[in-house]
Amino acid sequence: MSKTLERWGSKRAFILAVTGAAVGLGNIWRFPYVAGENGGAAFLLIYVAFVILLGIPVMMAEILIGRAGRRGPMQALGALAAEAGASRHWRWLGLFGAFTVFCILSFYSVVSGWSIEFLVASINGNFRGASAAEIGAGFDAFLANPGLLIFNHTLFLLMTMVVVAAGVAKGLERLNNLLMPLLYGLLLLLAAYAATTSGFGTALSWLFLPSLEALTPSVVLHAMGHAFFTLAVGACALMAYGAYMPDEQSLPRAAVAVAVLDISVALLAGIAIFSVVFSQGMDPADGPGLMFVTLPIAFSELPWGSLWLSVFFLLLLLATWTSAINLAEPMVATLQGFGWRRSVSTAVVALSVWSIGLLSALSFSTLADFRPLLGRNVFELVSSIPPDIFLPLGGLLIAIFAAWVLPRSAAAAALGVGERGYLCWRNVVRWVSIPLTLMVLLSGLL
Ligand code: PHE
Repeated sequence: MSKTLERWGSKRAFILAVTGAAVGLGNIWRFPYVAGENGGAAFLLIYVAFVILLGIPVMMAEILIGRAGRRGPMQALGALAAEAGASRHWRWLGLFGAFTVFCILSFYSVVSGWSIEFLVASINGNFRGASAAEIGAGFDAFLANPGLLIFNHTLFLLMTMVVVAAGVAKGLERLNNLLMPLLYGLLLLLAAYAATTSGFGTALSWLFLPSLEALTPSVVLHAMGHAFFTLAVGACALMAYGAYMPDEQSLPRAAVAVAVLDISVALLAGIAIFSVVFSQGMDPADGPGLMFVTLPIAFSELPWGSLWLSVFFLLLLLATWTSAINLAEPMVATLQGFGWRRSVSTAVVALSVWSIGLLSALSFSTLADFRPLLGRNVFELVSSIPPDIFLPLGGLLIAIFAAWVLPRSAAAAALGVGERGYLCWRNVVRWVSIPLTLMVLLSGLL
């Protein structure tokens, strides 16, 4: 069993680390295109409701387990279950989480690689003066080039694994401190620019005026999956970070702060992107390329556009980097728990994620017609089923463990808000989060 882990340097560092895990492709790339495919405002409304009712309480459950266990997820779950007199099989939940993040990282790394390509292209001024149609065609041509996709996927995964190999806490603190305010500032600027475009009004009503017919069980399922995905909840990844949490920190406050920041980043990105979509007469349901096509168009019309665009892709790349590091951590921590050295664990994780990631990278060209399940290709499968099904399922089990299995004293101490605060949280998890997740999962699957 591994020893007590290192700690984050301060309370602020912990919040920043969790924010770094939460804010990433989910906010800026995934939210707009999934909302675009699922009716806009209806999706947004349900997703925000789920962040409040499920995301925040389950995030607390997850971090609380890590903090109470002070070990890698599998070991923490096993040890806490044993102390509670419950089945040691709970530890397999840690393995399930590792499997979930494995699937997610395999496509996450490919898409993050797109940002590397776009960063280089915007530094080179490739988008300067290009029309919307040219930018769209350029993106399609890029996707059809497997060599380029694989190269960028490899580069991104290397970047991630170097930090993971060095140990998480040290590398991340300083980066997050700088990154989040910059990213936020740039998105504010972009949203302000969006307000001057002709599509702004349509974008706002499309995002904020829900029509109830749009609310199908599948939209609700996607919204729930996205709430878990964007907060990085349900894969025991934050559990791994909770293990490093300072003793005196209030967990609910940290969770709420992260959720507010996370939603507002998505909203700013959504406003900017959909203003362009509607100004240019594009289709909101354009799929995974939405952000990569709309933002170059928006920036190309701004003075100093190439410069701003380069800065934006740099910040996006850094934001996805901090998320990817969090995605890799539970896998590495799990292998380490089996007594493997950190360097070896990291190398094994890197190599396996890289190989499976190739299937995603090739899904836009060579393997476009390889559709093993539900008529979807590998990229479509790994970018939808793990976020929409595995994360909520993992979150459900995490919530059951924290609110029903963990002894009251241990859980209350790890939550850090006193007895009344604990009971309040436990009631929400027991009677709202757990039944709601179960209901949506079942209705979405049937
Ligand atoms: N929340 C991250 C994002 O929005 C993705 C993520 C999911 C990270 C699950 C960790 C665990 O990009």
